[in-house]
Amino acid sequence: MEYLIFGLIAYLIGSIPSGLIVGKVGYNIDIREHGSGNLGGTNTFRVLGKKAGMIVTIADILKGTVATVLPILFAAEVYPLAIGIVAVFGHMYPIFAGFRGGKAVATSGGVILGVNPLLFVIMLATFFLGLYLTKYVSLSSMLTGIISMIVTLLISDDIGLFIVITLLTVFVIYRHRANIIRIINKTEPKIKWM
Ligand code: G3P
Repeated sequence: MEYLIFGLIAYLIGSIPSGLIVGKVGYNIDIREHGSGNLGGTNTFRVLGKKAGMIVTIADILKGTVATVLPILFAAEVYPLAIGIVAVFGHMYPIFAGFRGGKAVATSGGVILGVNPLLFVIMLATFFLGLYLTKYVSLSSMLTGIISMIVTLLISDDIGLFIVITLLTVFVIYRHRANIIRIINKTEPKIKWM
């Protein structure tokens, strides 16, 4: 029963379409009709600029964190990371935005932040190093997932955490199919500010 309650709450939290809300309310723009068409922080940066991009990225991270921490705060008899995965699912397929959501990156990071802040900081550093070296947000996101799996094995003996990070990385790579093709075809946009 607790899985049902906290799972439903997590799905609804994950479904909050931050990019759509910020775009519509602040700029009267549906970011899914511009740039890469993705409902995420990167596309918000691209279409609406730094301020909106930061707000959406932070909101998307917090969705994962809040959904994962809630059952811990209520001492629910559930596995918090499993609830976090449901939030990421909500972010990818949001009921409040026609099931057209984001690519799982920021919300997955938020889930990890909720249970292992050190790993989150390592992921953040990995992401920015990847971004500095490759200039591709998409590639850095996928590499961060893969490297986090290795780091988890090195710094933690929590096999559940490793399985969840592996699953989240599979989500991230699956949602970046179009980006992978663009990277191969050399048509994926690079960031210009780093
Ligand atoms: O967070 C998603 C990012 O990795 C790629 O976004 O808009 O370039 O497809 P986008």
